[in-house]
Amino acid sequence: MKYLLFFFIFIISIKSFGQSPDYGLKVFKKANCNSCHQWHGDGGGSYGGAAASIRDTGLDKEGLKQIVECGRPGTNMPYFSKQAYKDDRCFGLTFTDFEGDNKNRPLPARQMLNERQIKALINFIVDDIKGKSITKDYCLRFFGKPSRVCEEL
Ligand code: HEC
Repeated sequence: MKYLLFFFIFIISIKSFGQSPDYGLKVFKKANCNSCHQWHGDGGGSYGGAAASIRDTGLDKEGLKQIVECGRPGTNMPYFSKQAYKDDRCFGLTFTDFEGDNKNRPLPARQMLNERQIKALINFIVDDIKGKSITKDYCLRFFGKPSRVCEEL
């Protein structure tokens, strides 16, 4: 009996140390990627302008990491890394390269993300979004409860 109890405590502690499988999705929502790319990530018209589809993207992990960290200067895609344009991670450019060039100046995201969050987010995109069609399962996961949007899928 005592051993059984230890066993459960052991399992519970492993669970809380590991990342929940939906951590990447949580980051996606926290960063509000959906405000521009929509809940389904397929983009389209919204207040952020015509955001590209993350489902149709041809970017690999490295490319995805770069666009999330650095955004895309000259568009509404903001940068999510605090280090962006401070070191050489963003196309070798720094803020000084954009001085006097307001049109192309990179836009900061409202919610910055750390390395761990970005990693989880990229894994989520690669595993569940990129190259995938929009499913009811994904919809229910995103909304976390039955939603009318999902009924139509
Ligand atoms: C304020 C609006 C906005 C937000 C917020 C935003 N994006 Fe974007 N994103 C855009 C726009 C606009 C583009 C298209 C840029 C262009 O024209 O090349 C884009 C492009 C992209 C691309 C490139 C797709 C491709 O193949 O070229 C990826 C990947 C992407 N966004 C992921 C994300 C992720 C992940 C988040 C959240 C961490 C996010 N975006 C948040 C507006 C936004």
